[in-house]
Amino acid sequence: MEQTFFIIKPDGVKRGLVGEILTRIERRTFTIDHLEVRMASEELLRKHYEDLVDRPFFPQIVDYMTSGPVVIGVISGNDVIQTWRTMMGATNPKDAVLGSIRGDFAQAPADGGATFNVVHGSDSKESAEREIALWIGK
Ligand code: TYD
Ligand code: MG
Repeated sequence: MEQTFFIIKPDGVKRGLVGEILTRIERRTFTIDHLEVRMASEELLRKHYEDLVDRPFFPQIVDYMTSGPVVIGVISGNDVIQTWRTMMGATNPKDAVLGSIRGDFAQAPADGGATFNVVHGSDSKESAEREIALWIGK
């Protein structure tokens, strides 16, 4: 069964959206295989976002992602990687369609600021395997 890795980011946890987001996952008939609350370290985030570390906004991503606890997890189901990306919506919430998590719960970033977009999801099978190994080690 295909698996993907997700994060409910610090804004989602602080705003009390954990239940809402887990409900959407369950309603979609995906199985929650792993679920954990933790703080992310800069060291871990540099590996997680290895493609973005050289971008000018990376320090803001680190500030955002370490600003409070995150909920991390693994979910499984048919085509869960692509389906979870659709459920999340576009990276910039201004482009995220209504009904998606980012389209329902987030706004566009301020100029030069980090994008507070509530959730993360792996973008491919390779990313899912890499991220599950990195965060959970299995
Ligand atoms: P990315 O992997 O491109 O998006 P996604 O989360 O949809 O897979 O970027 C990772 C995160 O980095 C994104 O969720 C928010 C942040 N980010 C910014 O703050 N500004 C940006 O211009 C980009 C591209 C990303
Ligand atoms: Mg990504």
